[in-house]
Amino acid sequence: MKLFIDTANLDEIREIASWGVLAGVTTNPSLVAREGGDFIQRVVEICEIVRGPVSAEVLAQDVDGMVREGRLLADLSEHVVVKAPLTEAGIAATAQLASEGIKVNVTLCFQAAQALLAAKAGAAYISPFVGRVDDVSWDGNELISQIVDVYAADPEITTEVLAASIRHPMHLVQAALAGAHVATVPYAVLKKAIKHPLTDSGNTAFLKDWEKVPAEERDIATAVARWRASRG
Ligand code: E4P
Repeated sequence: MKLFIDTANLDEIREIASWGVLAGVTTNPSLVAREGGDFIQRVVEICEIVRGPVSAEVLAQDVDGMVREGRLLADLSEHVVVKAPLTEAGIAATAQLASEGIKVNVTLCFQAAQALLAAKAGAAYISPFVGRVDDVSWDGNELISQIVDVYAADPEITTEVLAASIRHPMHLVQAALAGAHVATVPYAVLKKAIKHPLTDSGNTAFLKDWEKVPAEERDIATAVARWRASRG
């Protein structure tokens, strides 16, 4: 499963990219509005940092408008993936853009039947919103499983399942176990996912024990140099 970050914040993207784990970025109008500034400039800068799929969402609600905006966004960078909502117009726009070779991430998916239609329209990605499904008392992870199964049953479908609206590290693990191809994860959840108190206490204990080693033998570079010299 590939990891994307779900944010429009450049500092967050740079930090997680520096971990060497980031394959792409998703944004949405709410995330972009939160950051302010020039939307287009932001999309271009994100593409330069990540050099992988970067979802940028259309704002028009009619087919022609979505197609027009989608073409303009796709023209900004080879990395742009056009994001379109799972509405009737969004599906028709996806079919048109896909026929032109433009990748589309169909977003706001809440049931497997919608995901099937998005795939038939030629979506490159489908974005089921795990957390928002949980919020209304169904099971977001079950939705991911259903879509993975529906897609697997149809050899013509190449759409990737992109688990979105991830709220905590367990959502991430569950999405991977359910067979999602991608999870897009907020910065705060990625920071939580890397953290464990036993990792920190174990690391502290290892370093404390290492202090028992004689001072002149503690540094690995010095120790390796000494060992090499001893072998001639
Ligand atoms: C997906 O691409 C969306 O940007 C996002 O995951 C929505 O998450 P939320 O439900 O936490 O807003």
